Amino acid sequence: RSEPLVLGIESSCDETGVGIVRGDTLLTNTVSSSMEEHVRFGGVIPEIASRAHLDAFVPTLQQALDQAGVTLDEVDALAVTSGPGLAGALMVGVCAAKALAVATGKPLYAINHLVAHVGVGLLDGGALPENLGALLVSGGHTEILRVKSITDDVELLGSTIDDAAGEAYDKVARILGLGYPGGPAIDKLAREGNPKAIRFPRGLSQPKYMGTAEAPGPHRYDWSFSGLKTAVARAVEQFEAAGQDVPVADIAASFQEAVVDVITAKAMLACTENGITNLLLGGGVAANSRLRALTEERCAAHGISLRVPPISLCTDNGAMVAALASQIVMAGGEPSGIGFAPDSSMP
Ligand code: KG4
Ligand code: ZN
Repeated sequence: RSEPLVLGIESSCDETGVGIVRGDTLLTNTVSSSMEEHVRFGGVIPEIASRAHLDAFVPTLQQALDQAGVTLDEVDALAVTSGPGLAGALMVGVCAAKALAVATGKPLYAINHLVAHVGVGLLDGGALPENLGALLVSGGHTEILRVKSITDDVELLGSTIDDAAGEAYDKVARILGLGYPGGPAIDKLAREGNPKAIRFPRGLSQPKYMGTAEAPGPHRYDWSFSGLKTAVARAVEQFEAAGQDVPVADIAASFQEAVVDVITAKAMLACTENGITNLLLGGGVAANSRLRALTEERCAAHGISLRVPPISLCTDNGAMVAALASQIVMAGGEPSGIGFAPDSSMP
């Protein structure tokens, strides 16, 4: 067969993922998450995540091979996320992948996690279109990318300068007493609240940061969510100081509106000013109902066609690693060998 059978491994955060693809056909996507173990801490604890990867790797690998109905022997190439992510967590996946490569003699490809979030789009809808942009929104990243070639030309147009959007959801949920992970809880509660109740700040939207298309400011396509989180905390304090009930649903809805408004507004600006006519939305926050709806609405208004992979492919998984690696293999890319190290802050 000309299409390579590729096994991808993901361990950059709290998901242990093993995915298998043939070319751009998904065979299986097996994920084991340690999220439950982090709940009582209100966020991912790196040491716990690393240990969980160690426990989960072999069973997850076995399950993926069983589900795909293939043996390791039949696999043409191995791939693993080498960064960015939690150093200790990445180390587990990278060491496992190297061990498999040594034991089987298969070529191993080191994969950039963020580019893999884009490459996964291939598994749902086929070849990626030209003039593609990617809006990645998760607990670890919030970025807008221009993708000229998924294998060798991906440019970062803008990103958060502090918290990721999902992180802001998690922190605000904590302030509102909604538990962890906060995204789904706020998404749900926001449906009962008024998104216009409180006008929360849209970070980095002032003229000094935005500039103009001709003379862009320092953060035209960037986001900042830490001030928003502080604004929510202040609002809660004010209601409490006044002896009033905190209108939790209104705050959730207004916070969500601020996040989603500024994410989509800046993404649209980056697209229209850079000739981007196709947008891929990815990352765990792509599960958010308001983000999906407003992205659809604004893309339609700007004549941008939107692709949103199913949630199971948007959250961290091994299939995205395999999908990108299969493109690299088909483009004749060289394997990485086993001498590389994980890079937690890979650009
Ligand atoms: O991509 P992901 O599974 O892991 C990371 O790489 O971070 O994303 C997890 C993040 C968490 O911050 C979670 O609160 C957020 O995605 N999230 C949501 C929703 N579902 C998950 N945020 C807003 N609305 C949701 N429905
Ligand atoms: Zn991710």
